[in-house]
Amino acid sequence: MNFSSKLVSWYQNNKRDLPWRNTVNPYYIWLSEIILQQTRVLQGTPYYLAFLKAFPTIEDLANASEDKVLKMWQGLGYYSRARNLHFTAKDIVNNFGGEFPKDYNKVLKLKGIGVYTAAAITSFAFDMPYAVVDGNVIRVLSRVFGVSTPFDTSAGKKQFQLLAQELLIEKKAAIYNQSIMEFGALQCKPKSPDCSSCPMQGFCVAFATNSVGGLPLKSKKIKVKARFLHYLMINQEDNIFLGKRKAGIWNGLYEFPFLEFPIKMNEKQVMQSDEWSKVFFNSKCDVKSVSSEFIHILSHQKIHAQFWQINTVGVVLNEYELISKNNLFEFPISRLTEKYFETIELT
Ligand code: ADE
Repeated sequence: MNFSSKLVSWYQNNKRDLPWRNTVNPYYIWLSEIILQQTRVLQGTPYYLAFLKAFPTIEDLANASEDKVLKMWQGLGYYSRARNLHFTAKDIVNNFGGEFPKDYNKVLKLKGIGVYTAAAITSFAFDMPYAVVDGNVIRVLSRVFGVSTPFDTSAGKKQFQLLAQELLIEKKAAIYNQSIMEFGALQCKPKSPDCSSCPMQGFCVAFATNSVGGLPLKSKKIKVKARFLHYLMINQEDNIFLGKRKAGIWNGLYEFPFLEFPIKMNEKQVMQSDEWSKVFFNSKCDVKSVSSEFIHILSHQKIHAQFWQINTVGVVLNEYELISKNNLFEFPISRLTEKYFETIELT
């Protein structure tokens, strides 16, 4: 048996029973793939089920409000994925009669769908012969075939895509693609892969050359920027200032006004800063508490956040709305803010 048939037979004996594997509905598959780019199967599954319960069809998703979609996504991160999902649902309803196009190039043109997701949707839903290449696939191919080109270079991307496409069993695209991803997730794992029971061991280049731990190779190290944020929960007569973010990773989510500094600042330094005076000049201000530091790690940022509870009279912030504290939980917020909420009682 060759590599590809071995993979499929391994899959038939080892696969997990996952909800999106029992369907060929492209809407369900699309949704599962977008969620799974975000998170592991265990954490992603409840989101997948809740989304389908709230929006059983693509029309339901298209007709939902952005706030509702973001609220359902809350905690998954990368909120542009949820906004793109919503945008594309509307696009499919308005321009494709509510049906996912059965055409790889048309699927690839949809917002938020790249080469990986287009291949996943067209192969899983329509059994079309497009090979998926994700982190799992790259790991398996680089080890078994000894590919040491860094996967985050344009040469590497081409090489892995080409190799994946060559190995694809065209007449069994759906099951082959599931097999290679599952094999990467369960057998050829990033850390401590299970080489002793691996059906590929006899011809795995990495195993033979003792380089399983060193593959795949990556060229760039991501630069992580430290940010120091002070979120101000400004209470005015049972109301609180909240605003909707208009850009960046948290675009569309709601947040408290905040002050940002390039370095760590203590409470006194914050209160003596120009940024602070711009918010509180002319108003009475009573700081009730300042939280300890919450660390939130994103792909390119390490956020150090503190939350201030402040009672005031007379603060005016044009970019923010004063909302009733009782309604705070209706708004989609970042996981960071949610983590802070879990530590306090909102009274
Ligand atoms: N990760 C990404 N897509 C997946 C799928 N279809 N099944 C399991 N894990 C996945």
